[in-house]
Amino acid sequence: MKNIVLIGFMGSGKSSAGQKLAHVLGYEFTDTDALTEERAGKEISEIFNESGEAYFRDLESKVVKEVVLKKNQVIACGGGAVLRSQNVTTLREIGIIVYLKTTPAKIYERIKFLKKRPLLNVTDVEKRIINLLAEREKIYETVADIVVDTSNLTVDEVVEEIRIKLFKEKND
Ligand code: S3P
Repeated sequence: MKNIVLIGFMGSGKSSAGQKLAHVLGYEFTDTDALTEERAGKEISEIFNESGEAYFRDLESKVVKEVVLKKNQVIACGGGAVLRSQNVTTLREIGIIVYLKTTPAKIYERIKFLKKRPLLNVTDVEKRIINLLAEREKIYETVADIVVDTSNLTVDEVVEEIRIKLFKEKND
């Protein structure tokens, strides 16, 4: 079976829904952020602080190339993984791309107390989310085979919605 690739902004629920979806489907769960940290032996915030975003993106791209070698996985991608077109090409070859769409307000609500995301380490977090999402939304929408709006859904509902849409996609 093809892999299922979850994309979307930080706080859109890729990891929580991805883990559950993998469990339900009997797939392996893979998280590019976790794997990048494992390969670097450092947390993402340390990588950003010590070596900058471009270096992080290089590591992330290497991880993308690595994860696509296996099948039967749900792959949760870091929110910026689709910024490099080579990553998009690679991911599209091996999986169905699911965009977990979320409003800026919901994203803010979900991540406001979490400090682990270097790109949101700014004074006006809400404004940063709005601007970054505006820059990226088009990419997420264009790359996706399936879009699920997670703004008003629980994790279980997101998983169910993905399953329904995957089934539909397979039978269309
Ligand atoms: C990033 C998203 C993060 C992580 C890094 C950069 C981004 O992953 O890869 O902090 O550019 O959107 P999550 O989307 O899992 O938070």
